[in-house]
This record gives sequence, structure tokens and C-alpha cells, in this order.
Amino acid sequence: MTLTPVWAQLADLFAAVCFVLALKGLSGPKTARNGNMLGAIGALVAVVVVFLANPHMKHLWLILIAIVIGIAIGYPAARQVKMTQMPQLVALFNGVGGGAAALISVIEFLGAGEFESKGVLTATVFTVVVGSVSFTGSILTFLKLQEVITTRPILLPAGRFITMLVALLTLVAAVWLVVAPTTLLLVVLLALSLLFGLLLVMPVGGADVPIVISLLNAFTGLSVAASGYVLGNVLLIVAGTLVGASGTLLTREMAKAMGRPLTNTMFGAFTATAAAVGTGGGEERPIRSSTPQDVAIMLAYASKVIIVPGYGLAVAQAQHTIRELVDLLTDRGVQVDYAIHPVAGRMPGHMNVLLAEANVPYEQLKEMDEINPEFPSTEVVLVVGANDVVNPAAKTEPSAPIYGMPILDVGSAQQVVFLKRSMRPGFAGIENELLFDPKTTLLFGDAKDSLTKVVKDLEAL
Ligand code: TAP
Repeated sequence: MTLTPVWAQLADLFAAVCFVLALKGLSGPKTARNGNMLGAIGALVAVVVVFLANPHMKHLWLILIAIVIGIAIGYPAARQVKMTQMPQLVALFNGVGGGAAALISVIEFLGAGEFESKGVLTATVFTVVVGSVSFTGSILTFLKLQEVITTRPILLPAGRFITMLVALLTLVAAVWLVVAPTTLLLVVLLALSLLFGLLLVMPVGGADVPIVISLLNAFTGLSVAASGYVLGNVLLIVAGTLVGASGTLLTREMAKAMGRPLTNTMFGAFTATAAAVGTGGGEERPIRSSTPQDVAIMLAYASKVIIVPGYGLAVAQAQHTIRELVDLLTDRGVQVDYAIHPVAGRMPGHMNVLLAEANVPYEQLKEMDEINPEFPSTEVVLVVGANDVVNPAAKTEPSAPIYGMPILDVGSAQQVVFLKRSMRPGFAGIENELLFDPKTTLLFGDAKDSLTKVVKDLEAL
């Protein structure tokens, strides 16, 4: 192993400090932008140091061409992606990271001849397994989030048995490879790990997909850390461990917010009945719909209103219009709060970021536990493009894919107004009984159009 010059070690230390401070910055909306920038600077330093510290690097041109191709795809993709598509971009980038770590280990394995220790060989095998699982799992998650394939759980006959069998075979092949390394066994292990990644994510559906993204993110971090050990690169170990640890913590927090253990998230669908996965019936049922003017009147004469923002608010980009509406109501003396569900939208903190963009004061945003006791004394709840996060099936329908997830208790308010375009279900693909409740009324249309009309009617009152 070549010795890293002292200046390069110091630069690596600088990059590591940048990564730690980046995480700290990313923990709050006010400091997140700077945190992101620090992380990017750390990554840039880390890459440049590798080139400067290894002036006689082999395959330099191939590496540079790969970097140019990566930038040509990654930069426009990241610039053009809509805010609502961010989770699938994260899933894709995460998958590519895991795949890269696995590939590096495969190449190390093939080129090593003799491994310097069983420890290094074990780390190599670990990276192959975890990186491959992360790769196929993340690609499947991307396809689900992009709605290229169904967002619902995909259940194979005897799916649980097959998954457990493949997991066991992967473990056996991995141990065997450490004991008696051969190329054939490496290929078998690679294939099993890739298959296991698919099997792991297939039964996860609906509201649980965000937890899986976070879990796979942690996997990628761990595989990168292990590949750092294989390559003797301390910075990879530091960065990978940070991603692994923060991903694990985020996964735990999200599972907690969804009110169920992680095992239930990953394997719960196997025990769900077929009925749970379908969207109940197709029969016409009576609903109440309103005009923007009806809604304006309802809101204007209420004393307490709660807004429940969801994914549709982000799609419609109606954050500025909702703020305008809330300002008008507040001027009229109505007490208005926003109820923020931890998984509303399509990424953690989605609603906070969206509303912060429209300069909604932070004090108006109330977390689920704080706002839930307020619903019974609320005259009107305005549900703007949200569905799963207020769906009572999470409490009443044990076979529903969102069963057990705490919801915003909108049904206990006096009146509920849903702003949505159709009767289509939300991300989890299940019908919402609350839409048919006699206290509910629907204002159909794009949220921004509808809100603009309500604002106009309110101004005219
Ligand atoms: P959803 O349950 O997905 O419901 C969104 C609603 O918005 C739908 O009812 C849709 O109905 C409506 N909508 C869409 N575009 C609209 C527009 N332009 N104008 C008006 N309405 C529009 O959203 P939610 O309640 O926020 O729940 C989030 C779901 O996503 C959960 O299942 C969650 O687990 C999942 N998820 C969350 C994350 C994170 S971390 N937040 C990540 C991935 C997935 P129409 O089509 O009829 O308009």
C-alpha cells in the first residue's frame, strides 16, 4: 500500500470535518443550504486530493471520461428535477452509489490474487452483498416512486419463503466465499445479492416507501465504509459511516413516526390479505361537492381553521396562494394553523420546505401530536392535496397497507373540505372513507386554481 502524503491526510481531515458540519447544518431549515454547500466542498476536496496525491494513476483518461459522463447526466438531472420528484432522484443516486461500491469490491476481488487478511476479504464480500442489495433495491424504489410500476406491494406466491431462502443462500455463499474464494462463487453471490435487493423492496408499498429509501441509504453508507477499509481509504470510511449512521437514525425515526416496527414495514405486506391491497369496490357512492364561493363563506365565518397540506399542494405549487388565503383569514380574526404530518408529501420535511418557500411563519406549523387534540374544536379543516395522511383506514382497517400509521385526526373536526382533482386515491392506493362522510365536502380542481378562486371570493365578501 502506498503511503498517503501528510498534506493529503490533512486535506482528507478537512473534508471529513466538512461532512460532519454538513450533517449538522442539514438538521435545520435555516442552516440546510450552508450545510449542503459544505458537504459539496468536502466531496470536491476529497476527489481532487485523490488525483493530486496519485500523479501516476493508472487509467487516468478512462476515469476522467467517466467523470465527464457522470457530470453530463447528473448535473442537468439534479437541476431539472421537480421538487416532487426529489425522492426518486435520491433513490437513483443512492442505488448508483451502492452499485459503485459493489463494483469496486468485485474488481478488488478479481485483481487481488491473494488477500492480505481475512478481515479485508470479509469487508470485500460485505461490500459486494450490501452494495448490490442497495443497488437493485434502490432502482426498484425509483421505479415505484416514478410510478413506472405499481406503488402497491408486489406479492409473489410464497414470497416470504422465497425471500428468506434467498437471504439464507446469500449468507451461506458469502461465508463460503470468505472461507474459499473463487470467481464462480463471487458471481453466484453477486446474483443472489442483486435478487435479494429486489425481493426486499417488492412487498413494500404505499406509505412505507420513504422508510425503505432511508434504509437503503444506510446500506449504501455501510457498503461505502467497508469499501474504504478494502481500499485503505480513511475518508471513505468516515463518509460511509456518517451516511450509514445518519441513515439508520432517520430510518428509526421514520418507522417511529409511522407507528410500527421496521420488520412490519419490510415484511408486513406478506401478512396482509389480498383485499387490503385492492382499492375497495368500484360502485358509485354519494359525495358532497362545493363551489369556491361556498368554501370562502365557510372559512370566513369560522373562528378556527386548520389547513392540512399534502403532496397535491406541492404538485400544484400552491404554497404562495395558500399563504395568501391564510393571511386574509387571519386579517379577519380567524385562528389558522397548518397541521404537518411527518410523511406528508414525498420526502421528509417536504411540507416544511414548501411552506418556508412561501415565508409561512414557523409558529403556524404544528406537528401531528400537537395539533391532533385541536381538531374537535375546529370548525373547518381544509385538506389541500393530502389523502393518506388523513385516511381513517390507518386506524380502522387492519388489512390496509397504512394500518398502524398515526394520522391527522381530521374526521373529528366539524366540517372537512378536500381540495383535489378527482376521486383517485393517494400514494398508498386505497380509498378514503372520509371523502364520503356527510361532514365532508369536495372542491374539485387543481389546488392552485381552486385556492385562487377561493381567495377572490373571500376578498369580495
Ligand atoms: P397522497 O396520499 O399521495 O395524496 C395526494 C393527494 O393530492 C391525492 O389525493 C391527489 O388527488 C391530490 N392531488 C395531486 N395533485 C393535485 C393537484 N394538482 N391539485 C389538487 N390535488 C392534487 O399525499 P399525502 O396525504 O401527502 O401522503 C403522502 C403519501 O406519500 C404517504 O402515503 C407517504 O407515505 C408517501 N410518501 C411519503 C414520503 C415522505 S418521506 N414524505 C416519501 C415517499 C412516499 P387527485 O389525484 O384526485 O388530485
